[in-house]
Amino acid sequence: MTLFDTHAHYTDNAFHKDREELLGKLLPAAGVGAVVVPGVDVESSRSALALAEEYGYIYAAAGLHPEDCAGAGEAELEEIRRLCQHPKVVAVGEIGLDYYWAENPSKEFQREIFRRQLALAREAKLPAIVHDREAHGGSLSIVREFPEVTGVFHCFSGSPEMAAELVRRGWYLGFDGPVTYKNAKRAPEVVAAIPLDRIVIETDAPYLSPVPHRGKRNDSRNLPYIVEKLAEWKGVTPENMAEVTFENGMRLFPKIRP
Ligand code: NI
Repeated sequence: MTLFDTHAHYTDNAFHKDREELLGKLLPAAGVGAVVVPGVDVESSRSALALAEEYGYIYAAAGLHPEDCAGAGEAELEEIRRLCQHPKVVAVGEIGLDYYWAENPSKEFQREIFRRQLALAREAKLPAIVHDREAHGGSLSIVREFPEVTGVFHCFSGSPEMAAELVRRGWYLGFDGPVTYKNAKRAPEVVAAIPLDRIVIETDAPYLSPVPHRGKRNDSRNLPYIVEKLAEWKGVTPENMAEVTFENGMRLFPKIRP
């Protein structure tokens, strides 16, 4: 099966020792056919693009993450906008709201930077990769202000009702390692309630390793554990789930051309 990892941070320091071996050999050998590497600030957006320029099956997204946007202003937004014009930058991301960490920039500032980047996505006609942690109401209401923009809610953790509204608005939902955890309660309900053609799979590497590798560094070779769980919940074969999520990823990121 060919797998599409729609969210993996291969620019992270966790990969500094074996990045070349992993991206050059191990992932393609494991059937990983496409990967989107999101940026979290200007520097990592540039590094993500550098990886995309080096490896054909890797694509980049450019964006300012809510946890990393402190001090961001016109210069940073302008650089994200410039990066978005590159053929291998396929989305604006990851952007959004994170109300979990007390030391994050203020909610007001996060909302401002989120809106500015959704406006960039609208202007560049690119999908957005949205990070929403403990900020479901805020994320949904801001997304409603930009009906022309769609994309993916990465590592979706909202309710079935929120999922239904996002799907109605044209969004995709991304699922990661936590679907394999014993305490995954909402995810099975959400997956059951949304159409198969709106599900994408992601690792969020190096974070969120699925069972049985929970706690270790994650990479795209772990996607089959996520595929298996989603296939079980959806009543399809893992091969079918892999194929459908690959096609969904290609539709989600129209700049990717096979
Ligand atoms: Ni991420």
